[in-house]
Amino acid sequence: MREIQAAVIERAGQPTTIETLRLDDPRPGEVLVRMTASGVCHSDLHVRDGHWERPGPIVMGHEGAGVIEAVGEGLDPRVVGRPVALSWYAPCLRCRECQRGRQWLCTASPALRHAQADGTTRLSRPDGSPVLAYLSIGTMASAQVVPATAVVPMPDGVPPEVAALIGCGVATGVGAVTRTARVPAGSTVAVIGLGGVGLSCVMGAVLAGARRIVAVDVNRAKIDLAGTLGATHWVQADPETPRRTIDAIREAAGDGGPDFVFEAIGLPATIEQAIGALPPGGTAVLVGLTRFGQSASFEAFPFVDGGRRILGSNYGSSVAAVDFPALAEAYLAGRLPVDRLIDRRLALPELEDAFDRLRDGQAARQVVMFQA
Ligand SMILES: NC(=O)c1ccc[n+]([C@@H]2O[C@H](COP(=O)([O-])OP(=O)(O)OC[C@H]3O[C@@H](n4cnc5c(N)ncnc54)[C@H](O)[C@@H]3O)[C@@H](O)[C@H]2O)c1
Ligand SMILES: [Zn+2]
Ligand SMILES: [Zn+2]
Repeated sequence: MREIQAAVIERAGQPTTIETLRLDDPRPGEVLVRMTASGVCHSDLHVRDGHWERPGPIVMGHEGAGVIEAVGEGLDPRVVGRPVALSWYAPCLRCRECQRGRQWLCTASPALRHAQADGTTRLSRPDGSPVLAYLSIGTMASAQVVPATAVVPMPDGVPPEVAALIGCGVATGVGAVTRTARVPAGSTVAVIGLGGVGLSCVMGAVLAGARRIVAVDVNRAKIDLAGTLGATHWVQADPETPRRTIDAIREAAGDGGPDFVFEAIGLPATIEQAIGALPPGGTAVLVGLTRFGQSASFEAFPFVDGGRRILGSNYGSSVAAVDFPALAEAYLAGRLPVDRLIDRRLALPELEDAFDRLRDGQAARQVVMFQA
């Protein structure tokens, strides 16, 4: 047992507070990780702002990296000291989806209960009451016990903040392009929303060899950042004039519209723009997550008549154990400049301020750094 510092919310929609919690030792199938970095993803903000119902109290954070400190009985202790990135969807490896290689659809992940595989948590308050860990990994904490299947060793030389981003935004955005949509070289691509996820879609489109990459955001600074990552065209969106945004995306992509449009915000209006910008044969890939209960609509006849497609992309259709090391190697080879997404490093007590900046659309990726 040890004491940790962690950012806790009592329930969805409540602000975070920094608390001292007790962390029990890892049990069989579990790993104790000392956290080194945790990115601030909009999916944390959805919970913080009450867009998604979640049980509580719960330690926030799901985009993390750390160093293995101890392992539960039955695991190889030689991994102690290894730097790792964490997957927020620890696969059970036994369900039908895991068996067929679609771990991002695992139906028995401990992440579904924000607890360990046996349904219990290793976290408690000083009074002994239990505390959950968001998606089983609750990375806004100085240390955590996590399922062993959430832990992916990183090659030497990957900075902690880069490993953290690989754990969500990068795997989600790059994977949406290379895994979910399998964008062929020479395609035209548009990305609507240039936060950590959308900027990763831009990097993925570069890796895939896209011919044109149209970066779309309301914020000019985000568009400029996308340009440094390889976007070739841009559209500054005005939410008041969605039709104009659609026309500008089509114009920038050429040939009647982009072959692929990635929506990386999670607003019904921008989902409708993504679908509306498609030429015949085009594909809209929905990556952004809306508030619970929201719908988007489109005119059905031209969609069907034009052979268009819509794909939902969860976690970039990633298999963490395979894809995280590949993303890390692409970073090390200079082909995936993940570090350019990071515009602020902060300490855990500044998390609420980081959420304010993210809510205002000002942040690219902010990363909480933990002291060794
Ligand atoms: N599918 C998945 O597996 C998965 C994984 C991680 C995150 N997400 C979701 O992806 C979304 C993006 O996450 P993020 O961390 O990159 O968010 P973010 O807040 O950093 O980025 C959103 C971007 O959209 C821009 N934007 C807002 N409204 C706009 C509009 N009307 N038109 C154009 N641009 C607009 C903002 O300026 C900002 O740059 C969130 O909904 C998050 O929950 C999904
Ligand atoms: Zn995330
Ligand atoms: Zn499974």
